[in-house]
Amino acid sequence: MAEGDAPGVLIAGNWKMNGCRADLSVIEAVADGLASGAKCDVLVCPPAPLIALAHDKVAARGVAIGAQDCHVAVSGAHTGDLSAEMLKDAGASAIILGHSERRSDHGETDAEVRAKTAAAHRAGVTAIVCVGETAGQRQSGLAQAVVLRQLAGSLPDEASPANTVIAYEPVWAIGTGLVATSDDIAQIHKAIRDALIARFGPAGAGFKILYGGSVKPGNAEEILNVANVNGALVGGASLKAADFLGIIAACR
Ligand code: PGA
Repeated sequence: MAEGDAPGVLIAGNWKMNGCRADLSVIEAVADGLASGAKCDVLVCPPAPLIALAHDKVAARGVAIGAQDCHVAVSGAHTGDLSAEMLKDAGASAIILGHSERRSDHGETDAEVRAKTAAAHRAGVTAIVCVGETAGQRQSGLAQAVVLRQLAGSLPDEASPANTVIAYEPVWAIGTGLVATSDDIAQIHKAIRDALIARFGPAGAGFKILYGGSVKPGNAEEILNVANVNGALVGGASLKAADFLGIIAACR
């Protein structure tokens, strides 16, 4: 995307640690549901063992496939890890990085997320960089400060709208059924937009900023209509084709 272009809309599914080969039928059903066209880009990030299989089934049918984490190195003695280059080779066109579950389960810091984001860029894969405050941080009035600190620390200088998507996911809204109000979403997304423009100049206006946290078919339209919301990162509702398609259908 050229500098200054308005961002399009992306609906991204994060399957987390859910799904075996039998569940590829969900991804196929999503592709079937898109046959008549979607008004947004569609991405599904299944567990790593399914990436190549999913890519081969649906990448040519309008569903891009992504991964949920990567190592910073290209290759080497890192048992159990996967490089961005390997994930790209398997068919991933994007990698979710710095998800709050990685930050909490694995103690990932902003500096590590920044290095992983640079690794995704090195491999030629879009980085979906997640930020978001905890309930306690919001109650203490720190939501915006935390998000902006994570954003600044997690993005390398070469980040651009062509290689990076931001996902604002309040931790307390993930998997809980709680959703931030439209006003709260608008406020944080505007703060993120302003910070991107301050750091990257006019290109900052072109980054997609996704909202994530209990997005469902019933609330997607309202969320997607909030200013500076350029799509959604969807967990639970991406595991059912009908729900995920319902969210995709809410795109303008
Ligand atoms: P959820 O998860 O939609 O199940 O709340 C969102 C996410 O963690 O990306």
